[in-house]
Amino acid sequence: MTEVPEHLLKRSRDRRSALGLGGGDGGDGGDAAPAAAAPADEPTGSAVEPAAPTAAAKQAAAVPAEAAEPAKPIPPYVAASLKRKKIPLWVMPVLIFIPVWAIIYIGGLSKAATGQPTQLEEGATIFAAQCASCHGSTGGGGVGRPMTDSALIKTFPDILGQLDFVWLGSNGTGPKDTPYGDPDREGGQHKTLSYNGNPMPAFKGSLTQAQLLAVVRYEREVLSGAKIDAKQVAADGKMLWPDGKPMLDTAGNLITPDGKPLIDSDGKLTIEPNWKNPVGGTG
Ligand code: HEC
Repeated sequence: MTEVPEHLLKRSRDRRSALGLGGGDGGDGGDAAPAAAAPADEPTGSAVEPAAPTAAAKQAAAVPAEAAEPAKPIPPYVAASLKRKKIPLWVMPVLIFIPVWAIIYIGGLSKAATGQPTQLEEGATIFAAQCASCHGSTGGGGVGRPMTDSALIKTFPDILGQLDFVWLGSNGTGPKDTPYGDPDREGGQHKTLSYNGNPMPAFKGSLTQAQLLAVVRYEREVLSGAKIDAKQVAADGKMLWPDGKPMLDTAGNLITPDGKPLIDSDGKLTIEPNWKNPVGGTG
């Protein structure tokens, strides 16, 4: 005979009788009767053990038996959850569109509407390729002077002075010890070949004027921390004169607010930097 533990059989019997299914001997099929009958002799074998389960089982059986009847009507909270609408159908296209929107949005932050890099992004690329080897990848300095902590805004409060210095380099600016930048610079005015004796190379001819403006802006605004008036940035990210006029003509050359060339054929500025009322952001 298969060993069904005695206490399980006992519990089964008790439960059946509690539910009014005819106690142990009832049984719907022929197999049920022997199974129920066999253990009926056994309780005498172990008198102590079955005694406790019997009482407990009867109690346990009584509780579900009562609970089973009122369980028939669906409880109100279950009914409510069944009636409640699932996620509405119109949410699906919205969910599908969210990643699309995210891509468009993130793209809009960094790229001009044309898909071209912004002026500052262009400046970052030029700096990494042409300046970082001497000035450090984040402008901390090296062979070339450091640019962090507003250093460039102190040397060149007006962006025009910096555009000219990068265009001409140390030697194009003048012989050794030629002063450049703001004469009232905190810590003293800078002079050519005064940092470590090395010259700053000229970039006239190797950069376009549009690239010159881009890299100079990047050095000032990103590396040196200059804050530029929002009115001086066009929708496409290009820098404007304070009166809103463009700084570059359609050919990509630097122009004055009057539309004349800002840098002449010798590489000299056609209008002087204004150290007291400067253009190009504050440190
Ligand atoms: C070969 C090394 C070298 C490279 C490359 C270089 N520089 Fe310089 N830069 C220098 C040195 C050296 C000085 C200091 C010049 C001096 O004392 O006359 C300097 C000075 C400067 C200054 C003046 C800083 C001040 O406060 O006086 C600016 C602005 C500048 N560099 C910008 C640039 C830009 C923009 C580029 C890339 C387009 C660049 N440099 C690439 C070596 C370099």
